[in-house]
Amino acid sequence: MSLGERIAIKSRREIDQMREIGHITAEILLELRERVQPGVTTGQLDELATKALEERGLNSPFLGYAPGGVAPYPAVLCASVNEEIVHGIPGSRELQEGDIISLDFGVEHRGWHGDSAVTIAVGEIVPSSEADKLMTVTQDALDKGIEQMVPGSRLSDIGHAVESRAEKEGYGVVRQFVGHGIGREMHEPPQIPNYGRPGRGPRLRTGMVFAIEPMVNIGSEKAKVLKDEWTAVTADGSLSAHFEHTVLITDNGPEVLTRIAGSH
Ligand code: MF3
Ligand code: CO
Repeated sequence: MSLGERIAIKSRREIDQMREIGHITAEILLELRERVQPGVTTGQLDELATKALEERGLNSPFLGYAPGGVAPYPAVLCASVNEEIVHGIPGSRELQEGDIISLDFGVEHRGWHGDSAVTIAVGEIVPSSEADKLMTVTQDALDKGIEQMVPGSRLSDIGHAVESRAEKEGYGVVRQFVGHGIGREMHEPPQIPNYGRPGRGPRLRTGMVFAIEPMVNIGSEKAKVLKDEWTAVTADGSLSAHFEHTVLITDNGPEVLTRIAGSH
């Protein structure tokens, strides 16, 4: 985080709004994951997501998002299959049995944002397969990061916990993309790398809300972005998983705003 970038502390009323948007984000993401099966295209999942937003009168913070002059993001969902790490643009790609897919979905309502992602298997997952283990470890790494979100911890404790979990398995933790503060904007300060030495950076305080989103590769952590200006893939073609939650820091520890019964 560069100097002078303030981390917003949300008020009680603001937190209530964020709880609501977090819940809605989780609900829609759960709906979408139930539709994942062989033969479905990523474009169809994006259509379902668009309908879910329309039905509820909600906006997409993803659609048209264009940081730093890149091509505006053309969908409401990021659907990243297998070696795609994040920001996969939905389209005609048909899901196949044995694929894994990251669904990354954001919602905006009355000026507040929710953001969450989950990686799941298409069809039956082979228990203890490489893909199964990758997803389990990445979700676990997210949970380990979230556990650090208590008042008084330091920002880099989050990334350190994420990285330690993934590296124990010899997996590569992506460095090119990071988690972020979230609230009035989808991306607020601070940036939250998924790696680093512990005990660095600002102290965490009650009322801060962060989107924590580890991206973990079976092989090297190196990523490259395709010509569409968005889709990030592993440089070595290895499988990648991505999990994300919007999390509030409270006096009693982390509160995962995008977690509901049945979700990750
Ligand atoms: N959840 C991702 C993030 O936090 C997706 C945003 S990229 C977008 O960066 F283009 F789809 F908006
Ligand atoms: Co995010």
